[in-house]
Amino acid sequence: MNNDLSAVLFEENVIRMRIRELGTELSKVYAEKNPVLICVLRGAVVFLTDLMRHITIPLEIDFMGISSYGASAQSSGSITVKNDINIDIKGRHVIIVEDIVDTGLSLRFLIGHLDILSPASIATCVLLDKPEAHKIDIHIDYVGFEIGNDFVVGFGLDFNEKYRNLPYVGILKEEVYIEP
Ligand code: XMP
Ligand code: MG
Repeated sequence: MNNDLSAVLFEENVIRMRIRELGTELSKVYAEKNPVLICVLRGAVVFLTDLMRHITIPLEIDFMGISSYGASAQSSGSITVKNDINIDIKGRHVIIVEDIVDTGLSLRFLIGHLDILSPASIATCVLLDKPEAHKIDIHIDYVGFEIGNDFVVGFGLDFNEKYRNLPYVGILKEEVYIEP
């Protein structure tokens, strides 16, 4: 798998340290708030499981699945809910946990979808953000790392469901995902 990467962007220990910082920050901000962390399947699962173990206050977790890129490295633009949350978030403090923000369209969709359920607040926490790729003006509350406009995999992120189990984040070689 390593041969498919052109570079390692963030080693495992660097990611762990950053996630610990995010967990510490969220523990302070959400003390007494019993937040609901909503993990966006499947890419954010690895991030969620590390993040929640660095949050020292009571919390709940839930999961949401939305349609993603499929077998392409390009956003389709049309987003649908595949699995919805089970917890009633009315009056609750919600933190959306996402793996990566590219165009920002998925995150905007998620915020809109959850907002109609009348939570007390919605915050966004993403491991990776590609600011140059945003197509809309979107505010992200907690960002692990900002990256350039490369297609990255590992630490939960996939291409064609592959590479999610890499313990680090790397740049996928273009030849792997661009058809000749
Ligand atoms: P948008 O464009 O809606 O995209 O912000 C967010 C979703 O697209 C996927 N995505 C990626 N997945 N490497 C990946 O493995 C990437 O570099 C990448 N960029 C976007 C991801 O599913 C994310 O939730
Ligand atoms: Mg995703």
